[in-house]
Amino acid sequence: MGRATGAPDGVEPPERLVDDGTHGPLVPQRRNAADREARRLPHLVAARLANAVAELRGVDAAVSGAQAEQRALAVDEDERLDDLPDIGADGVGSLLCRARRIRQFLDLDVEPQLVQPLLEALSRRVHPLRVFAPLPLLEVDNVTKRFGGIVALDGVSFAAEPGEIVGLIGPNGAGKTTAFNVITRLYTPDEGDVRFEGASLLGTSPSGVIRRGIARTFQNVELFKGMSVLDNVRVGAHARHGEQSAEDVLFYVNLHSLRHRPAAELPYGTQKRIELARALASSPRLLLLDEPAGGLSHEEVDQLGAFIRRMRDDYELTVLLVEHHMGLVMGVADRVHVLDFGRKIAEGTPAEVRGDKGVIEAYLGAPT
Ligand SMILES: Nc1ncnc2c1ncn2[C@@H]1O[C@H](COP(=O)(O)OP(=O)(O)OP(=O)(O)O)[C@@H](O)[C@H]1O
Ligand SMILES: [Mg+2]
Repeated sequence: MGRATGAPDGVEPPERLVDDGTHGPLVPQRRNAADREARRLPHLVAARLANAVAELRGVDAAVSGAQAEQRALAVDEDERLDDLPDIGADGVGSLLCRARRIRQFLDLDVEPQLVQPLLEALSRRVHPLRVFAPLPLLEVDNVTKRFGGIVALDGVSFAAEPGEIVGLIGPNGAGKTTAFNVITRLYTPDEGDVRFEGASLLGTSPSGVIRRGIARTFQNVELFKGMSVLDNVRVGAHARHGEQSAEDVLFYVNLHSLRHRPAAELPYGTQKRIELARALASSPRLLLLDEPAGGLSHEEVDQLGAFIRRMRDDYELTVLLVEHHMGLVMGVADRVHVLDFGRKIAEGTPAEVRGDKGVIEAYLGAPT
């Protein structure tokens, strides 16, 4: 990936992996064709399927139930898909998440038309089990966090679907950074759970969270000030290896020419970008940005919105964005959650939240 220009060509994952039954059965001819294709597919892509199964096995073993894991992985290139109905509902959910990774076939020079029938066959098999939607990537579930008498988070729940940009807003002290600290396991909640790809993070260490694919930037930049820009970013690449080198990522954020400079010498806005590069270098699936616009000029903030979107596309990220700069959040977020004194007071699209009476009173003020 070069410097942040347009996104590379990609193929969108199918929007609905599962027929929810509201649209009637599939057209019989299509079903027959899909069946034929599904049977042909293993032979056509035998070697590739072995790779895909290995991939399915490798991705976050902890996320899926052990039983479903074993059974799903028993599907090899000679086996038909008929065995799938035996898998429990949870297992199928996780299998479906993984099935999305069959997109990787597309990188392996297999025709997309050959992959689609497999996904459709999977969908039909799980239909009787009524699995309606893929899991959210992140679920913050009824989390309470207290500091002595202060209730920083009070039964807060929100979720982020894969590929979404989710805004988290609210007045000073509302609990936004605390939520980030709970998600990244710097804090342990007093109540509630945080799940990533359906599995709790509460038994995971902060470094384990990064290995699971969650990276963040900090409200107050936290770089290794004595180290060069490149070495700071290498820390991220070391935490979780991905396809991108630290140098690639520095090129992407347009800091490559400064790579040998000590991080401490550079202006605050540049340091924020180094921190962002460090986060990207750990190949995250979920990126938490805590006030990325802090210290930026108006013009830079405008560019930041477009940049966050481009990053989401280029790196296939889900983004959780804490920001006081309303123009930025409302312009870039798909959904917004609003906290006030540790409680969630609203959620919705940017337009819904902007028009919410409670949010206007607590935070936004009346529109002028
Ligand atoms: N480690 C801590 N010890 C004690 N109190 C804390 C700690 N961390 C946060 N708090 C308190 O929890 C509340 C929420 O703080 P938090 O930093 O999450 O707010 P925020 O929404 O990020 O605010 P801001 O917009 O100012 O960054 C505040 O009252 C804060 O003082
Ligand atoms: Mg904060």
